[in-house]
Amino acid sequence: MTSDSFLDVAGAEKAFGGVTVLGGVDLRVAAGEFISLLGPSGCGKTTLLRIIAGLLAADRGSIRLDGEEIGARPPHRRDVGVVFQNYALFPHLTVAENIAFGLKARKHPAGEIGPTVRRFLSLVHLTDFADRSVRALSGGQQQRVAVARALAVKPKLLLLDEPFSALDRKLRENMQIELRRLLRELGITAVFVTHDQDEALTMSDRIAVMNRGAIEQLAEPATIYRSPATAFVLEFVGLSSRISGTVVGQDYEHVVVDTAYGQLRAPGSFVPGASVVLAVRPERIKVNAPGDYALVARLRDAVFQGSKVQLHFEARDGDHLMVETADLSDGLPAPGTEMRLGWAVADTLIYPAS
Ligand SMILES: Nc1ncnc2c1ncn2[C@@H]1O[C@H](COP(=O)(O)OP(=O)(O)OP(=O)(O)O)[C@@H](O)[C@H]1O
Ligand SMILES: [Mg+2]
Repeated sequence: MTSDSFLDVAGAEKAFGGVTVLGGVDLRVAAGEFISLLGPSGCGKTTLLRIIAGLLAADRGSIRLDGEEIGARPPHRRDVGVVFQNYALFPHLTVAENIAFGLKARKHPAGEIGPTVRRFLSLVHLTDFADRSVRALSGGQQQRVAVARALAVKPKLLLLDEPFSALDRKLRENMQIELRRLLRELGITAVFVTHDQDEALTMSDRIAVMNRGAIEQLAEPATIYRSPATAFVLEFVGLSSRISGTVVGQDYEHVVVDTAYGQLRAPGSFVPGASVVLAVRPERIKVNAPGDYALVARLRDAVFQGSKVQLHFEARDGDHLMVETADLSDGLPAPGTEMRLGWAVADTLIYPAS
């Protein structure tokens, strides 16, 4: 993807007062792609976004957009639109005037501005609000104005920093779907910052999981979930059962691990004596299924979640045993019940213990 990447951030470094916040980040995004930066608070997501937007200078590294080096350009000459959380609209202007603002500043012909504003009003479903003051809008409506204002000037790249985090869940989910539709329709490339894994999984073509100023994995949502590259990605995205142990040997393509629950296997290879963590996604574990099982555990509690039930089991300190099942035919089992847990060796993930 090197040659045809639309946005190419290479070796971006940033330190504040001697503390490294970005440690040489590479990020390549294809034209029309929607990428999420996902990671815990303080990992450097906003810093990376501000560097791409030109609101902050990197200490080192280059940024290419559509074949041109833009790292030295001021923000307004980068062709990049930005939408922040609680983006400040111009409060004394109407909805339509806010959307028209960037077009006027860029000296678009007056005859084009009206039709463009009407088109974007309609795209964000605010046609009937054109002449209303933005002060008289709900939070969700204000964010739609901010998105329309950023897109009306047809930027090459749209950057969004947690734009929906102040909205309630239902509205947030609507906005996620609407934004995705809008960007597809317009063919706009976007980098979207969030610390909400569900938001990243739903919206993204690919997710960059960040930790301490570095991208630990950049992959499609299903790959991030099924094959987390590191123990950090495993823990940050989705739930899992986790069992620590020591490698005792190799059985062809499987690692054999001694654990508090007996010997377990995982695909891969590790040196004997290595401390490792085994992990399984909770929906891959079968409860009391006929045939082979991996271990027996005592139920601590069962949590009803509508379409599924989470079962949490007693586990050794530091370990975590949980199962998600959609099969509710027998009702909720009572705490204290002993159950057999089984899963495929192929579904077992293995990481060096941290
Ligand atoms: N101007 C600054 N001066 C000093 N330190 C800063 C500055 N901006 C950011 N930092 C520090 O850099 C680190 C990364 O900050 P950043 O805002 O990029 O995190 P983030 O991933 O966006 O977090 P959040 O999810 O909380 O928004 C943090 O430790 C932060 O305190
Ligand atoms: Mg941030």
